[in-house]
Amino acid sequence: MIILGIETSCDDTSLCLMDETGKILAHLSFSSSAFLNRWGGVVPEIAARDHSAKIPLLLESVFLEAKISIKDVDLIGVTTKPGLLGPLLTGINAAKTLSLLHKIPIYPVNHLHAHLEAIHLSSPTSYPYLGVLLSGGNSAFFLVESSTQFEILGTTIDDAAGEAFDKGGKLLNFSYPAGRIIDETAKLGDPFKYHFPIGLKNAKDENACNFSYSGIKTALKTHINKYKSVSEIPDLNDVVASYQHAIIEAVQLKLANVIERKVANKNIPIVVGGGVACNSYLRKMLKDTYQDQVKFVPPALCMDNGAMIAYITLKNAKDAIPYPECLKIDALERYIQKSNL
Ligand code: KG4
Repeated sequence: MIILGIETSCDDTSLCLMDETGKILAHLSFSSSAFLNRWGGVVPEIAARDHSAKIPLLLESVFLEAKISIKDVDLIGVTTKPGLLGPLLTGINAAKTLSLLHKIPIYPVNHLHAHLEAIHLSSPTSYPYLGVLLSGGNSAFFLVESSTQFEILGTTIDDAAGEAFDKGGKLLNFSYPAGRIIDETAKLGDPFKYHFPIGLKNAKDENACNFSYSGIKTALKTHINKYKSVSEIPDLNDVVASYQHAIIEAVQLKLANVIERKVANKNIPIVVGGGVACNSYLRKMLKDTYQDQVKFVPPALCMDNGAMIAYITLKNAKDAIPYPECLKIDALERYIQKSNL
């Protein structure tokens, strides 16, 4: 069986061809982030246009690399939620076109679930596990019960962790996306020099398990405004390290709350995925606390990618839809309590 995975939920166009054993035959991605850097972040309309331009080229290239053709594909997996509407539509339309032309069934993918399930590609993990999803557009905790079912245990009430990195980076004149640059810069600074606020730190109600990352950017802005420009900040590395520390400390704190309040078996595996899971400080802090209980999706599969889409499609092949006339798109899936694909 050959699966084609298509991911276009944000600014990465990514396609993957995978066989029935989970072996990646070809996996190619194009990120429009360098191009979007001009606007300091993702402009949905521009990202969508970029996906339409890149999909045909990437399609041709993955088939060339895998030395197979579309006629060999048995199943297409495509991200249908959540994400930016225009970018989602481009991927879905590509999938539907291929499906209708070549009579290939489609499996609609919730890409948050796919981000976490990517763990099995490097380290098979038992269910249930506690998923910590930290990406550019989402930050949430899930109890993952199977490859089709997960329950949301906590989410962000405003910004995602990735937004705290990217928008904080914009204030610091770093290029977009700023997560990796902040990660590297912070290695040179003192993470305890300044105390940036942790959103909902002392919440005792439902918000004990939720994130809030909007206030930390304002605190950074207030700090930067004490100087004429960013270049005049004498201890920039310390500011960056302290800012990153607060973002990650929030993950530590909220994760501890989720385990204490919402997870019956405190020893289930913890799986961390999404682009922010590449962060070296996060990896060290969680590893120090949870040792072998915590597992990280490998950095190469953390960012939005077609391999995780192909993989979850492989696992749920029996639920594929033959020649769909319509696929339900849900740009704001983030707040749905129970997800049953
Ligand atoms: O999963 P992803 O592709 O998310 C969405 O597009 O929604 O992740 C992208 C996010 C960006 O916010 C980026 O700054 C962040 O992942 N990121 C990092 C690191 N590498 C990427 N954040 C912190 N540290 C990193 N090393």
